[in-house]
Amino acid sequence: MAPAVRAQVTALARQFMLGDDAKEILAALRDLHDRQIAFTVDLLGEAVLSEPEADQYARRYLEILELLARETAGWKGVARPETPREGSRSATGQRPTARETGPTPILNISVKISALYSQIHPADPETAIEQISDRLRPILRKAKETGALVNFDMESYALKNLTLNLFKTIFSKPEFDREPARGLAIQAYLKDSEADLADIIAWARSRQRHVTVRLVKGAYWDYETVVAQQRGWPSPVFARKPETDANFEKLSTMLLENDDAVDAAIATHNVRSIAHALAHAERRGMDLRHFEFQMLYGMAEPVKAALLQLGCRVREYCPVGELLPGMAYLVRRLLENTSNEGFLASRYARGISREELLKKPCAAVTVEPQAHFQKPGRADLPVGQDAVAAPLAKQRVPAGFIAFQNEPPTDFTIEAERQKMRESIRDWRNQLGQRYPLIINHKSVSTHDWLPSLNPANQKEIVGYAAQATVAEADAALAAARAAWPKWARTPADERAAILEKTASFVRAEKAALCAIEILEAGKSWTEADADVAEAIDFCNFYAARMRIMGRPERTQHVAGESNFQGWWPRGVGVIIAPWNFPLAILTGMTAAALVAGNSVIIKPSDQTPVIAAHLMQLLMKAGIPPGVANLLTGPGGTVGAHLVEHPQVDFIAFTGSKEVGLKIWESAGRTRPGQMNLKKVVCEMGGKNCVIVDSDADMDEAVAGCLASAFGYQGQKCSALSRLIVLEDNYDAFLQRFIAAAASMRVGPAHDPGNLIGPVISRDAQQRILKMIETGKKEAVLAWQGKVPDNPEACYVPTTIFTGVPPDSRLFREEIFGPVLAVSKARDFNEALTLANTGEFALTGGCYSRSPANIKRVKGEMVCGNLYINRSITGAIVERQPFGGFRMSGGGTKAGGREYLENFTVTRVVTENCLRRGFAPEEEEP
Ligand code: FDA
Repeated sequence: MAPAVRAQVTALARQFMLGDDAKEILAALRDLHDRQIAFTVDLLGEAVLSEPEADQYARRYLEILELLARETAGWKGVARPETPREGSRSATGQRPTARETGPTPILNISVKISALYSQIHPADPETAIEQISDRLRPILRKAKETGALVNFDMESYALKNLTLNLFKTIFSKPEFDREPARGLAIQAYLKDSEADLADIIAWARSRQRHVTVRLVKGAYWDYETVVAQQRGWPSPVFARKPETDANFEKLSTMLLENDDAVDAAIATHNVRSIAHALAHAERRGMDLRHFEFQMLYGMAEPVKAALLQLGCRVREYCPVGELLPGMAYLVRRLLENTSNEGFLASRYARGISREELLKKPCAAVTVEPQAHFQKPGRADLPVGQDAVAAPLAKQRVPAGFIAFQNEPPTDFTIEAERQKMRESIRDWRNQLGQRYPLIINHKSVSTHDWLPSLNPANQKEIVGYAAQATVAEADAALAAARAAWPKWARTPADERAAILEKTASFVRAEKAALCAIEILEAGKSWTEADADVAEAIDFCNFYAARMRIMGRPERTQHVAGESNFQGWWPRGVGVIIAPWNFPLAILTGMTAAALVAGNSVIIKPSDQTPVIAAHLMQLLMKAGIPPGVANLLTGPGGTVGAHLVEHPQVDFIAFTGSKEVGLKIWESAGRTRPGQMNLKKVVCEMGGKNCVIVDSDADMDEAVAGCLASAFGYQGQKCSALSRLIVLEDNYDAFLQRFIAAAASMRVGPAHDPGNLIGPVISRDAQQRILKMIETGKKEAVLAWQGKVPDNPEACYVPTTIFTGVPPDSRLFREEIFGPVLAVSKARDFNEALTLANTGEFALTGGCYSRSPANIKRVKGEMVCGNLYINRSITGAIVERQPFGGFRMSGGGTKAGGREYLENFTVTRVVTENCLRRGFAPEEEEP
């Protein structure tokens, strides 16, 4: 069965791709040439995972250029038989030049820039441009030597600005200012495309050298739409196909009319789009050889033949390479050929009439120039009637309540956002070393001791000093919280929710500043810090939305003559004990849930991140939290934390942190002390030893990238991080080789530099502890690879480390390390993989990369973890979408960011009222 399927898929692929055999490639190109069709060659494969892969890709381009130059040396340019029609002229009114009427150049290659650097980061386009340029330069030199044109393909929207900037940067260098010939693709489905095209035309004109612009509609429509929806960003693409078609016509006109600066390559199979360009050229009396049509290999053969007959220039886009790297390309072609929206399927499969197909695309829609024209950047995109970008429909919200919406992450491809972040970091560097007192009853309380909070990337940099509470201040905070509680508990739920929503809006307004603090205080990368702050906003808004719902008692049953309603009361006074690894999100989440439910709290942040906690406290006060309802108590956990946990006047503890401390709290809170009125509730989130299984048939590109992010994102210091990777035997060697190469390509350095994917660990203590564990690991298993770290004694770096051959009973396999250390195991089969995965005391996150429906079904049913992720990374849970939390020694099963989370901070009451009045049952009122 498998060989037959393989043969069929290969045959299918061959319809659209030329394969990787040099002889076959040359024969196919020769065949095109004989038919007067020019070519552009594209090397299959995109988005490389490691620097060796990027090197290899660049090398292959040089090889193919050399091969094609050698083999096509004797070929004559594809010349059209007839001479220009009499009186024909270019759009500028000048006589046609040799460029315009001469033979079509033979050598033409298409390059995907994502294949030339593995560490492209939206927040650091400058480094990407440098690195890609290094690999491009030899290709451009070879193109100069061989007279080839180099075209930049256009990929996903996230790479669009980078591609345009790279293009202008490298072709402005004296070495490439005149040669080789250059071109790039513009995607008409993008709302920005008109502005981008205008910019390229102006640029080409200013440099007095032509650019070939390949006008395409765009091949990633589904992807862009889904990504925008998932992130809550406005969609960058038009929502309706006729809008894209109309824009394509508009831009093709623009291209033809600016032929003094750009050479038009109209790339489409759509007869209406082609006819429109032809008609416009004819109207302007342009020579048909003045521009070219481009189509994909294996598609729309009759259209190509017709254009040749008309005397047009035709070029085919010919992808070469192996099937697997070409899978993404093949999928795009199959989607296009089967899409209900697509021209080809409409014409051939659905038999739509000629009149319908040739109809003006935008009779019903008008394509206005976008606001973007003046101000490039995703944030400026008009959302308007853009239905596809409407965030996540179908949410479960009772009538009369507003649905919660997640805070979108910052799009760092926008220069203004990067600038804001750079400035915030700079501003914060000028404010370091301040003192942050305790806040009790809204009053600042200074103490005898002040603990410095140090930048983990530079231990000499003191981010701030936190007041160190003693038991006396802990008691004062508790007294304030107790005194404030009754009034707060009776404050209507809607009012409490409004204060939380206001806090969220203040956090949003200070997003860049808060990120800057996290970057300096916790060593979070730009994107990790941004995600943490966004999650804090989400927690405030989500719990506020839930409280508004829970604030209305719910009828339990309808029964005549009696009303029965269930409602929620706050528990009382609680202590919030938060970790440093999500310094704002977790702290805010636990605090917001407790507060909005009507409790008063003492916030006890981590010793490592008191500065960000002090800012949260300020924002809560600014938003209107009454005095005493929230109190900030920085200080030693061992004394003040323990004192509060044991205190009979404390009704609940919300804790996130290590298993060691969590279990102590659990035990201590279980003991009832004299004067205690409540059974203490403990909301306890602890660690994990999380596992991902990579199946034999897993998509390697996805698995390598996802596992890398899961294991080493924020240096592995997430309770959700991947620490045990189990790879099926068949895939093991190939996977490990790519995985290690990809890990070795990750940039390491201080978190304030946005290009660094790996930063320091949180503290000197953590560094020493992890390094010690690595030494233990060396005795237990095989050190397969270890990265390098910058030589800076003031920074707390730990080299990224990968162990193989890790025995299931070793400490490496069982103990949480909380650092960039990964244990990789080989499994004979899926049974063994699952058994290994389910070994151990933790059950937090887990994952599996597989294409097998049977195995996916098995992990869904059998993998022991609180949050299971299939075919994606296992970190980065989103509020409401992925309620987060584990069981076993990972926690009490509570789900932060879930619909039921607030119930942990409440007690439930039922009120029953007899409504019968001597046999008369009046109409019931809602409470
Ligand atoms: P057709 O008229 O059927 O249009 C299909 C296109 O419409 C889709 O591809 C999409 O862009 C758009 N569309 C579909 N549904 C839509 C909706 N609901 N709302 C709005 N728009 C919708 N692509 C790319 O992204 N980068 C590149 O570098 C290249 N390079 C390239 C070179 C050459 C020579 C060709 C011919 C094509 C490309 N492409 C490309 C692919 C190109 O973007 C496009 O996917 C195909 O050519 C199909 O478009 P047609 O105009 O041929 O068909």
